[in-house]
Amino acid sequence: MAGIRYLADHRTWVLTGESSTYALRLDEDDVPAHVFWGPKLPPEDVAELSGKALPWWDGFNDPNEGLDELAADGGTKYWTPALQLRFADGTRALEWRYATHEIDRDHLTIHFTDRHYPLRVSLHYRWKSGVLERWTELSADTDVEVVRADSASWVLPVLDDYRLSHVTGRWAAETQLHRTPAAHGETTFASRRGITGHHANPWVMVDDGTATERHGEVYGVALAWSGSWRLTATRSSTGRLTVSGGFGQEGVAHRVGPGKPLTTPVIAGLYTEGGFGAASRAWHAYVREHVLPHPQELRPVLYNSWEATGFDVSEEQQRILAERAAALGVELFVMDDGWFGARTGDHAGLGDWHVNRHRFPDGLEPLVDAVHGLGMKFGIWVEPEMVNPDSDLYRAHPDWVLHHPHRRRSELRNQLVLNFARTDVAEWAHGWLDRLVGDHGVDFLKWDMNRPFSEAGWPGDADPDRLWVEHTRAVYALMDRLRADHPGLRLEACSGGGGRIDLGVLARADQVWTSDNTDALDRLRIQHGYGQLYPAGAMSAWVTDNPNFVTGRSVPLRFRFHVAMAGVLGVGGNIVGWPEDDLALARELIALAKDIRPVVQHGALYRLRPPVDDGVTALQYVHEDRAVVFAYRQAAHFNAPERPMRLEGLDPAERYLDLDAGTTHSGAVLLARGLALGLPTGDFASKVVRLERVPR
Ligand code: GLA
Repeated sequence: MAGIRYLADHRTWVLTGESSTYALRLDEDDVPAHVFWGPKLPPEDVAELSGKALPWWDGFNDPNEGLDELAADGGTKYWTPALQLRFADGTRALEWRYATHEIDRDHLTIHFTDRHYPLRVSLHYRWKSGVLERWTELSADTDVEVVRADSASWVLPVLDDYRLSHVTGRWAAETQLHRTPAAHGETTFASRRGITGHHANPWVMVDDGTATERHGEVYGVALAWSGSWRLTATRSSTGRLTVSGGFGQEGVAHRVGPGKPLTTPVIAGLYTEGGFGAASRAWHAYVREHVLPHPQELRPVLYNSWEATGFDVSEEQQRILAERAAALGVELFVMDDGWFGARTGDHAGLGDWHVNRHRFPDGLEPLVDAVHGLGMKFGIWVEPEMVNPDSDLYRAHPDWVLHHPHRRRSELRNQLVLNFARTDVAEWAHGWLDRLVGDHGVDFLKWDMNRPFSEAGWPGDADPDRLWVEHTRAVYALMDRLRADHPGLRLEACSGGGGRIDLGVLARADQVWTSDNTDALDRLRIQHGYGQLYPAGAMSAWVTDNPNFVTGRSVPLRFRFHVAMAGVLGVGGNIVGWPEDDLALARELIALAKDIRPVVQHGALYRLRPPVDDGVTALQYVHEDRAVVFAYRQAAHFNAPERPMRLEGLDPAERYLDLDAGTTHSGAVLLARGLALGLPTGDFASKVVRLERVPR
C-alpha cells in the first residue's frame, strides 16, 4: 500500500510507494536530510536509519556532504547547489527552519522558513503509482533573488559503482542512448536554449554498472519541463551520487517577492528492479496513467504533407493527397507548413496566420470539408512562438521578439522568437489559434518550435530573466486553454523534430514528433533511445519516400512501415507518386497497424534485442491477451542461420496462437527457447508476428 507516515520521534517521513520506499528527516539544524531511497521497507524499520548526522571528519571533509533533500548553498555546504538565494541586503543562502507539514493522502508538503528573512520554502512529495513526484515552492514578503531553484535533489544509495544512462543527439539524430560510468565530480546534462532541446533530454537513470535489460536495480529521475533545464550528477569522495535538477540555467536569475511566488516544475523519481526493461515499462505506465491527457485513446493513423509538398501547398494538391490518404486508410490528414501569409519558403510569413488566398482562394473551409467528407480528421501545422522578420507581424511589432537593445537579433532559419512571457503576445497567439481551431473545425495542431532562444532580453521589464520560465509557462497555458475550450482538439508537440519531448509537454500534447529523420534504420536507434522513458503511444513515426529526405538511404516499404508502426503510425511520403503495388502494400500494412495498435500504444514494451549492430533487432509489446513481435534485420551476413528470439511478458502456463501462421506455441517454450521468427532472407528483412492467448 502506498502511504506516507511521519515518525515524530525521529522527525522522519517515510513515503511508501507501490514498490519502493523513500525517507527523509530533519537534522539537528532543521535541514531536510535524505535517509533512504530504494526497495520497500517496513515504515517503522526506517527509524533505525534516521540517526544523527556524522561529525565532520576534519576541517575539510564532511561525511554528510550531498545528503540534503534540496542542497541549499551557504554556510559550510560546498555541494552542487540546488537552491541559491540572494537577499536584498546581499546576504546569500538559506538557513532552514522547519514550520510544519501536511499529509494529504499521497502528497506530503513540508513547510520551512528562513531563520531571519521573510522567505518560505515548501518541499512537495507526491506518489503517482510507483513514481515519486517532487517540486519546490518559494514565496517571500520582500524581494529575493533566486539564482537557482531546483525541483529537488535525489540522493542515490551507496552502490559499488555508479553508471549513468542518458540520451544525447542533435537535429535529425535525437535520443541516442549512452550508458557511461559516472565520472567523479560533476556531470551536467542541460539545455540553455529555452527549449528541451535535441542535444540532451531531461532524464537520467542510475545503476551500479551491472544492470542489464532484464536484471538489476535502476534509479531514474526525469524533469517535467520544456524550457532550459539542468540535471547534475555529482559523485563525491564520500561514495555518494546525487542528481539534482530543475529548470533554468546558470546566469539566469528570477525574483520572488510579494505576489510573486515561484513553483518549480515536477521532477519525478522512480526506483525499479528488473533491469532497464522494467524501468522503461514503469516509466511508460506512469506517463500513460498520470501524464498524457487522453491515455485511453488510440492515436489515429495520420498523413502529413511536409515531405511530399514542402512549402509548396495548394488546395487542389492537398485535396488530392487527402483522397489518396483516405483510400489508404489514413484517419487524420495534417497539412504542414506553407498555408498562411507569404510563407512560400522559410524566409517569410511566420507570424501572419491568415490563410494564403493565392493558394486557398476560398479559405481553408473547402479543404477541411473535403477532409472531413472523406471521413478523416483535419490537422494543421502552426509555429506560434515564431516570427520571420519578413512578416507584417514583425513590421508592426518589432518589440515583440526576445531582444537586447544595441545587440544584433540572431536569426536562425530566418526567424526570431516571440516573447510569450508578454501577456499581449500570448493573448495575440491565443486569439488567432482559437479562431483557427474554432472557425475551421481543426481537430489537430502540429505545434512546432523551430529555433532556440538567443539575445533573450525584454527591454523595459523590471525582471526580464523571468521570460525563460514564463515563456514556457505561457506555452503550456495556451495549450491548456485551447484544449479546455476545444475538447476535441488533439496536439502534437514538435521542435524541429524531437526538440520538445519531455514530461511537461506530454501533459498537454497527445503525441510528439520524434525526429525529422524518418530513415527507418536511423529511426530504430532514435526510437530505442526515446523509448527508454517515453511510451510508444505518444511516439509519432512516419513512412516517407525513397531515397530518404535526410539521409538519402533507400529502404523497402515494408521495412519502413514495420519500423513506423512500432509507434504511432503516420505516412509522410508523396503518395500521389507511389506505384499501385506500393499503394496496395500500404493499405495492407495500415490495416495491420490498426489491428495491432492497442497492443503497441497501450501495451508493455520488451526490448528483445537492441539496434546496436546490423544483425536482428527485435521488440515486443504485450497487452491483455495479445502480443506483437517486431523483428528487423538490417544486413544479412555469411548466410547465418536464424536464431530463435526469446520472448518476454507471456504467461508460461498459456498457449499462444500465431494469428498469421495459424500455429500455436506454449508460452513456456516462447519464453525459454524462443520464437522462430521466419524472417525473409536478405538485407532489410522485417516481420511483425501477432500472437494471441488461446484456451489450452
Ligand atoms: C520542422 C518540423 C517538420 C516540418 C517543418 C516545417 O522542421 O520538424 O516536420 O513541420 O518544420 O517547416
